[in-house]
Amino acid sequence: MIVRLLEEEIASCTRCGLHKTRTRAVPGEGNPEAEMVFIGEAPGFFEDQEGRPFVGQAGKLLDELLARVGLSRSKVYILNIVKCRPPQNRDPLPEEINACSPWLTSQLSLLHPRLIITLGRYSLNHFFPSESISKVHGKPRRLENVIYYPMYHPAAALHQARMRQIIEEDFKVLPSVLKSGGKVAENPDQPQQLSLF
Ligand code: URA
Repeated sequence: MIVRLLEEEIASCTRCGLHKTRTRAVPGEGNPEAEMVFIGEAPGFFEDQEGRPFVGQAGKLLDELLARVGLSRSKVYILNIVKCRPPQNRDPLPEEINACSPWLTSQLSLLHPRLIITLGRYSLNHFFPSESISKVHGKPRRLENVIYYPMYHPAAALHQARMRQIIEEDFKVLPSVLKSGGKVAENPDQPQQLSLF
């Protein structure tokens, strides 16, 4: 349960200015044995109130998408790049991301997931600073035994039907991304052949 101890430390973090305006820090939650870790951007209003990730509208969509591929919160882990809500949900500042990133590094080294799903550009750019989400979403990349799978942020799908369709399609492939180990299928007849970024 070292992950939980780490989360207790995160809950009282004062490494950047966001601690002054937060209600609660949002360390993350889920199954510490999970193979898949989802990483969002930063808590919003409801997450800040509850101290839990993805409990607002975007979280409801995330729950729905998980259920469609036979998953639930109890089978995965959910984290954010920044653990405290930026005021008025503004974008996190580079210094806030930098101050917070050692927490994420420690969490990932304890969880050691096989598959990291980045949600949105902040999360993608934390791992791959020069990649653009519009080019690489839905494509896995394997680095040192970890598969990275970038997706658009579910919040983007809340008001745009086209974006929702893209996220749903990218989500559908998740189970085969894990099964394939992030490799391109060798059999060209395989229906869900994955292309890498
Ligand atoms: N958006 C995020 O990126 N993370 C949350 O926890 C909630 C909304």
